[in-house]
Amino acid sequence: MSIAKNIIAVGSGKGGVGKSTVAVNLAMALKAEGASVAFLDADLYGPSAPTMFGVGDDEKPQVGEGQTIVPVEKYGIKLMSIGFLVPHEDAIIWRGPMLGKMLQQFLSQVVWGNPDYLVIDLPPGTGDIQLSLAQLIPVTGAVVVTTPQDVALADVRRSIKMFEKTNVPLLGVVENMSYFETPDTKQRYQIFGGGADKEKLKALGTEIIGELPLEIPTREGGDQGKPIVVSAPDSEQAKRFRAIARRLIAKQGGESGPGGLDLPDVGEAYSS
Ligand SMILES: Nc1ncnc2c1ncn2[C@@H]1O[C@H](COP(=O)(O)OP(=O)(O)OP(=O)(O)O)[C@@H](O)[C@H]1O
Ligand SMILES: [Mg+2]
Repeated sequence: MSIAKNIIAVGSGKGGVGKSTVAVNLAMALKAEGASVAFLDADLYGPSAPTMFGVGDDEKPQVGEGQTIVPVEKYGIKLMSIGFLVPHEDAIIWRGPMLGKMLQQFLSQVVWGNPDYLVIDLPPGTGDIQLSLAQLIPVTGAVVVTTPQDVALADVRRSIKMFEKTNVPLLGVVENMSYFETPDTKQRYQIFGGGADKEKLKALGTEIIGELPLEIPTREGGDQGKPIVVSAPDSEQAKRFRAIARRLIAKQGGESGPGGLDLPDVGEAYSS
């Protein structure tokens, strides 16, 4: 059974750089570009999807026919997260084999419906979950999220190595929190430094596929369960996410890609 035509994992060696924010908005942007999309929150330690997609406690995955799990649906996207199954405040202490088992269940029992894209939000780091995932399913590509700090380059390098080792092609690097622009005077501040060294990234065989500024509506969208691509589809930030989505679609071969994507030219394709 095919899970999805294209499987994109969003990861980074470092915590808190905006992986989940990027993964969620990228999923919505792919949807807005006309693709069918599903989302797997593979952060079994600290799931973000319930909050970022605004899924309430009353919305739970359902048991379907013959051991299947019917995922939650929000904004036209099928969603699965450990956060739907375990109360938010309950920390789960996972042991390695349990992680793999849970992931395997999510991947094999959830009725994903073979969408054009399955976007996977990875936990920070290069650990068991990332390895299990690569062993369990053919991830078609990875996106690494980073911040402009020099120290982040070391993490990018580690992430690249991990994806290389697990034979997952790297689609590119998204630089998040690139700068902050004051809404009134439009002055730009490079809070985390001058930006990724493009030459060094090139030497690592990759490139920046998007730069996203730090801004309040993006953070609010995450906290309020309405991703910026949905809450403000005409904003500059939403357009940046859409541009990254288009780049990814092109990198996956566009219409002749592995998924044989035939994308209609539609505007706002999501429903609420
Ligand atoms: N471009 C941005 N502008 C404003 N806030 C942002 C931006 N990107 C991320 N944030 C905020 O920063 C915080 C961390 O982001 P997020 O949870 O996406 O990071 P993460 O890398 O997934 O973290 P973790 O490693 O814990 O999984 C969140 O509160 C999020 O709303
Ligand atoms: Mg996260």
